Amino acid sequence: MDDFKIYNWPGWPLEENPHGGDFDIEARKRMITGSQMLSPFLKKYRKNMGNIILEVGPFFNPLVTPEEFPNSQIFYWENDYHVLKYHNNKYKKDSVYPIFCDLNQIEGNSFLKLKLETQKAFKKLHLKKISFDSVVVSHVLNYIDYKLFLMVLKEFIKKDGLIFINNVVDYGLPAFFSDRRPKSIPEILKTIREIGYKIIEKETFDSPDKKHQKNKRLILVAKNNG
Ligand SMILES: C[S@@+](CC[C@H](N)C(=O)[O-])C[C@H]1O[C@@H](n2cnc3c(N)ncnc32)[C@H](O)[C@@H]1O
Repeated sequence: MDDFKIYNWPGWPLEENPHGGDFDIEARKRMITGSQMLSPFLKKYRKNMGNIILEVGPFFNPLVTPEEFPNSQIFYWENDYHVLKYHNNKYKKDSVYPIFCDLNQIEGNSFLKLKLETQKAFKKLHLKKISFDSVVVSHVLNYIDYKLFLMVLKEFIKKDGLIFINNVVDYGLPAFFSDRRPKSIPEILKTIREIGYKIIEKETFDSPDKKHQKNKRLILVAKNNG
């Protein structure tokens, strides 16, 4: 298949791309290459990840898929309806639960709705309480109030459950950046510890292309202290 078809995602047409160079074919390729830098870490910790796994903001190329994580219950929290539809169609025969959520609305009614939708899927699995064994968050923190998100997440992740973060400060689609995004790697590390996660492994990677990504990449594996 040619690149145009591969990267011409529903709802994000390349012919009408309002983000120009921030989201052309090359930018999309860079995003996926960067996302996949988390894969070796997922492989390394696979045995400790359990079988109920949440990937937040998977877009069209999730890291957690039935192919890579057979016999797992896979949840996607995502605010893009095209992405949700795409995964609902693609994985209708698998144990994949794409759920709408706007992580900038994780208080009040919309939060309750997210909780209820997630709970519904857990009930199907005969589980009373939402409790993810592990959570994967790649290239999402720049779009949300990440401190609030990490705090709220603690309610949904089991004690000693793992969280995997892949992030580059100020990298992505500036049109959607949150004012409450992380401003530096030390800030993320401090926040993670303060909120009650224990850092198990962290690595930083120099940017392969300073023109498009000026900052270093942080990959972090942490454990929920409970
Ligand atoms: C840059 S993409 C990252 C895609 C992929 N995870 C990666 O590593 O490249 C950001 C993802 O987060 C989702 N997202 C952005 N803002 C969000 C929000 N407020 N609530 C939920 N999902 C959001 C987007 O729809 C998209 O799937």
